[in-house]
Amino acid sequence: MFRYRVLALALLFCFPNVVLTHFQNSAQSTPAPSGEHRKTSEPYTGDLSIFDSPGRDQRLQLNRVMEVLGVTAGKTVADIGAGSGWFTVRAAKRVGEAGTVYAVDINPEAIHYIGDRAQKEQLHNVKTVLSKEDDPLLPPGSIDAVLLLKTYHEVAQPVALLRNLRSSLRPGSKVGVIDRNGNGENHGVGKEVVIREAAQAGYTLAEQYDFVKGDKMDYFLVFTAE
Ligand SMILES: C[S@@+](CC[C@H](N)C(=O)[O-])C[C@H]1O[C@@H](n2cnc3c(N)ncnc32)[C@H](O)[C@@H]1O
Repeated sequence: MFRYRVLALALLFCFPNVVLTHFQNSAQSTPAPSGEHRKTSEPYTGDLSIFDSPGRDQRLQLNRVMEVLGVTAGKTVADIGAGSGWFTVRAAKRVGEAGTVYAVDINPEAIHYIGDRAQKEQLHNVKTVLSKEDDPLLPPGSIDAVLLLKTYHEVAQPVALLRNLRSSLRPGSKVGVIDRNGNGENHGVGKEVVIREAAQAGYTLAEQYDFVKGDKMDYFLVFTAE
């Protein structure tokens, strides 16, 4: 062992450029962590009504969130990980009849629940999409604004999902992620992880806010994909 260390040091002193270039090359050829294998939380399958808790609009300052994302009349919005459709119905009222909201979820029960809800509330501009874990299955070039609300930490293949989302985005569209800091499996994920994975999928962090919860544990990140 000692002999190898002496040899390595001797090489470094005699041929520093060769040795350093070798290490630089091997560092460059090591792929960056894809984020695909980090820990994520189990997708929620419980009672969907819990997402409609009283006062949630105020706690989250949802109107401000929608302003930031440019959710205005006539726009096409995607609610990825829609759950009970809490955000879907609010966005649908805001974009009006000239707009569309895609409620996207991997859970068929959530999709049925939102379909019934939209019918009861006479929101004809809501379209439900039973999506895939790594693909929101949205139509190409159609979406102006996306929100992943308390969902990102559950997404099993976040980089693949964000990459597959890109072709559905219109120029100038915004992708919002609201989540809470955590270790991935405790219903939260560090915001630096989200920023890194979004960059791997070709997104740029455009804005970030901490108004979505008083305790500052939650963050609101806004990405663009130009
Ligand atoms: C904690 S719930 C949040 C629901 C809703 N966004 C809200 O805050 O009211 C997360 C939702 O994301 C969905 N989900 C998890 N992974 C997903 C994925 N890869 N693509 C789409 N939906 C996903 C789950 O089925 C669940 O309905």
